[in-house]
Amino acid sequence: MREAPADGNHPRVTSELEELFAFLRFPSISTDSQHAGDVRACAEWLLAKLADMGLSSELHTTPKHPVVIARNAHLPGRRTVLVYGHYDVQPVDPIHLWTSNPFQPEIRDGRIWARGATDNKGQMLAHVLGVGKTLRESGELPVNMIFLFEGEEEIGSPNLTAFLHDHRAALACDVIAVSDTGMVAPGVPTLSYGLRGITCCEAILRGPKGDLHSGIFGGAVANPAAAIARLVASLHTPDGRVAIHGFYDAVRPLEDWERALWSQVPGVSDADFLRVTGAPALFGEPGYASAERVWARPTAEVNGIGGGYQGEGSKTVLPAEAFVKLSFRLVPDQNPADILTKVKHHLARHCPPGVGIEVTCGHDGKPYLTDPHSPYGRAAQAALRTAFHAEPVLIREGGSVPIVQTFRDILGADTLLLGLALPDAQIHAPNENFPVANFDAGIRLNQALLVELAK
Ligand code: BES
Ligand code: ZN
Repeated sequence: MREAPADGNHPRVTSELEELFAFLRFPSISTDSQHAGDVRACAEWLLAKLADMGLSSELHTTPKHPVVIARNAHLPGRRTVLVYGHYDVQPVDPIHLWTSNPFQPEIRDGRIWARGATDNKGQMLAHVLGVGKTLRESGELPVNMIFLFEGEEEIGSPNLTAFLHDHRAALACDVIAVSDTGMVAPGVPTLSYGLRGITCCEAILRGPKGDLHSGIFGGAVANPAAAIARLVASLHTPDGRVAIHGFYDAVRPLEDWERALWSQVPGVSDADFLRVTGAPALFGEPGYASAERVWARPTAEVNGIGGGYQGEGSKTVLPAEAFVKLSFRLVPDQNPADILTKVKHHLARHCPPGVGIEVTCGHDGKPYLTDPHSPYGRAAQAALRTAFHAEPVLIREGGSVPIVQTFRDILGADTLLLGLALPDAQIHAPNENFPVANFDAGIRLNQALLVELAK
């Protein structure tokens, strides 16, 4: 432990921060098999931390990355609260855009800079340390507690559904709490009552058997890179709606009360979206504000596209193939499997002549919607109020945490989404960061939440 003056660049380094730093130093990148050992080492560190707090802790091996479970002694007559989080992180590329090493956390301007600082190590460790603090202060918790931490969230939780099925008796709970979503602005406590779902796929268009000289053959055979551009263009109407037949069939319309509520939420006006994104202009489905487009409307996104020469200067080649990686964000009551079927039909029907198409499915997750005014929702709002000394705002989220609806399906419990991610946290991007103030607030939030949920 080190004591230093508490200013922006030299905050007091508490043992809690030291623990977060140790957690952040593991490059637990779930998508990269080269980091499988680091993911496991990170899980083992977590396991030791939880055991050290006196919780009965287990590491469960899965076909990919481990699940860590910890619990206190469960007493009859107390509420059972499950806290979920993920200790895996996204890759760090492009690495040259990081100001400091993503796995050597640093504090600058009152923020912790590291991959996973916000998504999700900082937020999930705040829950763990909140419980640790209550245990130190009171000797016990007011609830039966289950921690469930996975190492595969960033790759779509491929093994967690089976794990929940297999352990559903041990994981039975009244309510679930997750801090893996956003906060609209610094100091504005945010309860999210919805998440978008997702379905992903990749299309490869194949033309000639190998790359061709574009002068010798161009004009005589279709160019897969040009074809993929036309195929991608077919996904939207020029004004920004998704042009896939039946895509909007199951979409539940936005409620009037939500529109009224959201128009009052700070930090999410169109001007805020312009500022945070740095885009030259906003663009999206007509008839909706930016926050509405992101929180309550489905989309089709191109996450990656490629084919042909990518190097310096020009190279007159007609590429043999081209690819596009697509994801679709879904809202209630769209179903990922149904949407994927519609997407496949669309891609097959709109594939330009002269190329072959192959579509591979990726991961998916259902959308989630709950009532922020339920008794548990009100308890969450009370805890947010206590932790932040401010009135919480109620929003939905554009991002996805696919396991949340699966919790409801398998465990029969609703999830309270108590996010601490700021709009400029740069999650999934270079220079991810998490304010020290949010980390501290997260610890207080967990403590207040357990008190409120016990009532
Ligand atoms: N924490 C995010 C989701 C998130 C971020 C929700 C900010 C709301 C606000 C989570 O780790 C994530 O990135 N999820 C992925 C899921 C996908 C890989 C299945 C996503 O949303 O892209
Ligand atoms: Zn993420």
